[in-house]
Amino acid sequence: MHITVLTGAGISAESGLATFRASDGLWEQHRIEDVATPEAFARDPDLVHGFYNARRTRAAAAHPNPAHRALVELARHHDLTLVTQNVDELHERAGSSDVIHMHGSLRRALCAACEHRWDAPAAMSATDPCPRCNKPATRPDIVWFGEMPYHMERIWQALEAADIFAAIGTSGNVYPAAGFAQHAGRMGAECLEFNLDDSANARDFDRRIHGPASATVPEWVNAICR
Ligand code: APR
Repeated sequence: MHITVLTGAGISAESGLATFRASDGLWEQHRIEDVATPEAFARDPDLVHGFYNARRTRAAAAHPNPAHRALVELARHHDLTLVTQNVDELHERAGSSDVIHMHGSLRRALCAACEHRWDAPAAMSATDPCPRCNKPATRPDIVWFGEMPYHMERIWQALEAADIFAAIGTSGNVYPAAGFAQHAGRMGAECLEFNLDDSANARDFDRRIHGPASATVPEWVNAICR
């Protein structure tokens, strides 16, 4: 059976990492447009690097939880494509391989001048020279609002091949990921949503499983891996 899973911030919430859409509309005390757009980076690169440096430190200190670990088990029994919007590396640290990071990763640096990528140091700054072209144009390898998500061709193929599509801990507000359930459903997949509550696109799912991912995801994985 081919299963395509999309994860969002909710799967890492129980590892202590903040989700984005808190009730006050702020993201760790910042407005999204001040820290997660190319315009914000052009305006104030130090603020943006400071924000991501702090997130990198927090992500490095966090530990995978039972929901991340259950997806490792799922891949042992089924043909799994694991797509994440998360920029932490908790799936990899739980033991998942070949994770598709559609919004990039805190662990990587990107040269805005020549597009070279390399492993990010713990703290980055905009004046760090690119190891290839030497220009001081270092940015986090993160897909910001207004930029194109990575690996989309592979993701659409995995949605089309899926017998089951499961979205875990994502609010369904950010496209293209918010459209994956509709697409997979049209192509014949059974669509499952794991969330504390209905997401913004809950109607696109055949089944909605409410509760903390650390409990609901292992329970589902146990049931389909028996
Ligand atoms: N278990 C299951 N779901 C949870 C849990 C939990 N323990 N805790 C929170 N959630 C759910 C919330 O109900 C919410 O629907 O996770 C979702 C998190 O939503 P967002 O914070 O909007 O995160 P996400 O959907 O991943 O955001 C998408 O937006 O900010 C950008 O690029 C960023 O990748 C991110 C994208």
